[in-house]
Amino acid sequence: MRLRVIAVVGVVAVASSAVVVALASTSAAGLPPYTNGYQKWPKINKKPFTRCGPPCAHGGVKNVYASRKKVGAEYPNGTVIVKSIAQTGDRPSMPNQVAVMRKVAGRWKYIEYQLSGARYTVLGQGQFCQSCHARAKANDYVFTKR
Ligand code: HEC
Repeated sequence: MRLRVIAVVGVVAVASSAVVVALASTSAAGLPPYTNGYQKWPKINKKPFTRCGPPCAHGGVKNVYASRKKVGAEYPNGTVIVKSIAQTGDRPSMPNQVAVMRKVAGRWKYIEYQLSGARYTVLGQGQFCQSCHARAKANDYVFTKR
């Protein structure tokens, strides 16, 4: 009987460590794993900026990080670009909004997150973003240039 109890405890311990591993490999508070560590990527803006547009989309203190460099005129497949949009009082590690572009098979996918409590939830995505970014087509749909 005693042996069986130990076995059960063992299973529970394994299960809970699996949960910890799963959380660690997903990502910070609801952001997708492909954005992990973005604040250490090279910035493509010179300094944090509050200027908005034109056309204006996101108000706040902004930084733009790119996981890869342009090759010639375009960013390579797999590039992830993150714009952090902070409001006064935000923790630096958790800006109020995080807008993301990710290049998959030659096309950008767009999604933006908003902090709600301690987690990010999806604020907007897709065609709505794409239609405005079309104005930056000459720079591979990316407005910000170094
Ligand atoms: C009305 C136009 C407009 C819309 C709509 C828009 N953006 Fe942007 N976006 C901009 C502009 C302009 C910039 C340049 C930085 C700035 O002014 O904030 C930018 C910057 C970005 C950047 C940094 C790379 C770059 O192009 O400079 C990302 C990432 C981004 N937007 C994602 C999104 C996502 C995701 C959405 C949809 C939820 C979205 N944007 C909707 C205009 C727009």
